[in-house]
Amino acid sequence: MQKNNSADCIIFDEQAEYCHYVASINRGQDLRYYLETLGCQMNEADSEQISGMLMQMGYSQTQDIMKADIIVFNTCCVRENAEFKLYGHIGELKTIKQANKDLIIVICGCMMQQTHVVEKIKKSYKFVDIVFGTHNRHELPRLLYKRISEKKKIYEVWENSKGIAENVPIERKSRITAFVPITYGCDNFCSYCIVPYVRGREKSRDPKMIKKDIMKLASEGIKEITLLGQNVNSYSYEMDFSELLHYISDIPYIDRIRFMTSHPKDLSDNLIKAMKDIPKMCSHIHLPLQSGSTNVLKQMNRKYSKDDYLVLINKIKQSIEDITISTDIIVGFPGETEEEFEETLDVYRKAGFDFAYTFIYSKRNGTPAANRQDQISDDIKNKRFAKLITLVNEMTLKSNINDESKIMQVLVEGRSRTNDTMMTGRTRGNKIVNFKCEADCTGSLIDVKIIKGHTWHLEGEMI
Ligand code: SAH
Ligand code: SF4
Ligand code: F3S
Repeated sequence: MQKNNSADCIIFDEQAEYCHYVASINRGQDLRYYLETLGCQMNEADSEQISGMLMQMGYSQTQDIMKADIIVFNTCCVRENAEFKLYGHIGELKTIKQANKDLIIVICGCMMQQTHVVEKIKKSYKFVDIVFGTHNRHELPRLLYKRISEKKKIYEVWENSKGIAENVPIERKSRITAFVPITYGCDNFCSYCIVPYVRGREKSRDPKMIKKDIMKLASEGIKEITLLGQNVNSYSYEMDFSELLHYISDIPYIDRIRFMTSHPKDLSDNLIKAMKDIPKMCSHIHLPLQSGSTNVLKQMNRKYSKDDYLVLINKIKQSIEDITISTDIIVGFPGETEEEFEETLDVYRKAGFDFAYTFIYSKRNGTPAANRQDQISDDIKNKRFAKLITLVNEMTLKSNINDESKIMQVLVEGRSRTNDTMMTGRTRGNKIVNFKCEADCTGSLIDVKIIKGHTWHLEGEMI
C-alpha cells in the first residue's frame, strides 16, 4: 500500500452532553430549524449530521424559513456564484431577524474556512449568531449551548481537522438511499480548486465505523448506499478502496453500492475488478475529465494525459458490461486556446460519455490558477460553454435513446414530482427513469422496459 491516510476518531460523547443541556433548555417549546445546503454531496452528508444534532437538541425541521427558531446555511465556495448566492441569502435574513429577535442564525461549511469571509460576516452581517467551519461541525451542540447561555456571538473555525467525528446523530433525507462518507478532505491540489484549502488534508475513516454505519442503514431499510469522498479511490486505512468494497459487500439487505468521486490517476485495476466481481456494485462511474488537452491537464495538475484518460475509459468499458460513465468538465481554464478547447470536445465524443456536469472556470483566490495573467474573457468562456453544452445534451440524448427497449432494474425512490401517476427511480447506471404505476412501490427494485429516451430522463413501463 502506498500511503495510509487513516484519521483519528473523535467520539461524540462530549457533544452528546451538550445536546442534552440544550434539549433540557428547549423542553416544552415547539422549536423549528430551517436548513439550507449549498454545494456537493459532502455538504449534503454534513447537513444530515447537522439535522441529526438539531433534532437531538429538541428542534424539528420546517421548510418555511419564516417559522424557524434557528436558521442554518451550510455553504460552498467551489465557484464564485455559490458565494454570491450566499451573500444574497444572508442579506434577506436581516429582515427576518428584525421581526424575531430570538432567532438564531448559523452559517457554516466550506466558505467559512476562508478568513476573509468570516471577517466580512463579523463586519457587515452582525446579526449572524454562530459561525463554524467544516472541521468542527460536530461541535454545533457546544456552540449552540454557549450562544444560548452566554448570549455572545460565536465565530469558531478550526484551521485543520483533528480527526473524524464518529457516532454523530444523523437525520437522513431519504429512506431508500444514503450517503456514507469514507474520506474527508483532498490532497490533490488541482490548480483551479479551493476544496483542499477549505476541507483540509485527506483523511480516511475507520472501515469498522463505515461497516457499522452501513449495517445500521440496512436495519433501517436503506437499499442503496453511496460511498462519498472527494477522491474515494485514494482511500487507505488498513485496506485500500477495492478491499473496502469487498469488506462491506456482504452486508445483508443493501442491494446496491455506488461511490463518488474517483480521480482518474488513482483508478486501479483492482477497483475495476471489484466493480466487476461484486454483484451489488452499480454499473456507473463518475470520472472527472476536466479537460481533453494534455497541456491544460498538466497546468491543472491533474497528473494524467488525454491518452491516459482514453486508455482508462476503454479498459473500463471492456471490463464492465453496460457501464455508464459520467464526467465533470471545466471550460475557460486560464490560457486555454481554441484548439485545446476543441480537444475537450474531441475527447468527449471519443469517450462516449453518458452525461456530464459542466462548469465555466471560476477564479478562486488562493489557488495557483487564480494568479495567472492569461485569464480567459467571459465572452469566450460563455461561447465555449454553450458549444460544450450542445454536445453534452446531444450525446446524453443519444445514450438515452440507445437504452430504448432495454429492460432495466430500477430502485424506486418515490412519486414523480411533476406527475402523480408516475413513479421515479434510478437504474444501476444512475439514469433517472419515470414510469407509470398506480400503487406506491417506493423502495422496491423493479424491472422496467425503457420505451423512450429523453435528454434528462428515461421513460419506461413496468413489465
Ligand atoms: N473531488 C471531486 C469534485 C470536486 S468539485 C473531483 O475531483 O472530481 C466538483 C467539480 O467542480 C470539479 O470536478 C470541477 O469540475 C469543478 N470545479 C472545481 N473548481 C472549479 C473552479 N474553480 N471553476 C470551475 N469549476 C470548478
Ligand atoms: Fe478539487 Fe482536484 Fe481535489 Fe477534486 S481532486 S476536490 S477537483 S483538488
Ligand atoms: Fe463546495 Fe465544499 Fe463541496 S466547496 S463543492 S461544498 S467540498
